[in-house]
Amino acid sequence: MQLIVATRNAHKTREIEQIFGSASAVRDLTAHPEISEITESGTSFEENAKLKAIAVSKKLPGLVIADDSGLEVQALGGAPGIQSARYAGANASDKERIAKLLSRVANVEAKSDQRRARFRCVLAVARDGQVLATFEGVVEGKIAERPRGSHGFGYDPIFIPDGFEETFAELPEEVKNNISHRAKAIRKLQAKLPTLCGEAYGFGAGGGGGGGAPGCAAGAPAALI
Ligand code: IMP
Repeated sequence: MQLIVATRNAHKTREIEQIFGSASAVRDLTAHPEISEITESGTSFEENAKLKAIAVSKKLPGLVIADDSGLEVQALGGAPGIQSARYAGANASDKERIAKLLSRVANVEAKSDQRRARFRCVLAVARDGQVLATFEGVVEGKIAERPRGSHGFGYDPIFIPDGFEETFAELPEEVKNNISHRAKAIRKLQAKLPTLCGEAYGFGAGGGGGGGAPGCAAGAPAALI
């Protein structure tokens, strides 16, 4: 059995692989062009993560993980939030999204609390069209005055995590992948994988490798949602 990540975002896949530290078992939707784009019609990260996990797990066997994530900025009342990917229009680039966001907070002083922001990530785990569990991770920080750095993706060049002077795009990947919203959500997921899939699944605490995945029978762990 392998873990399928319900995304075509290569950056997300790479981070998830690195955080899991078990690259060989993580696959995204690259090999499945037949699975069409899932409309993110939910009103929260959790709803959207569940929508994606359910839709993909109806099409593919095994455990499916969906990541819905984004940036919440204090001065913007939590925007762009679940609209992070579409903040400057459907076909805009990361640069355009960053430019729009910076223009919206241009009048907010560097030291103001209003410049505070957080990345939020919700992971939904599903199998055979049923959500087994969701996990959330948050990293707090602030919005930089200008984009800095070339690592990562999305809003990384303008997000300075608490405890650092550098943006996520300036910090080494290992640092981001240790403290990020995604890392926190994945660590919670890893801790529960043995329960979700049975001790033999081979991921996270207590995983021993080999064997089947008795805990993953549809419906069994639904109480974890
Ligand atoms: P989703 O596919 O709806 O989850 O879109 C998430 C969007 O939020 C991405 O396209 C990025 O713009 C932003 N985002 C989420 N996580 C990160 C991150 O780790 N760094 C930078 N931007 C992120």
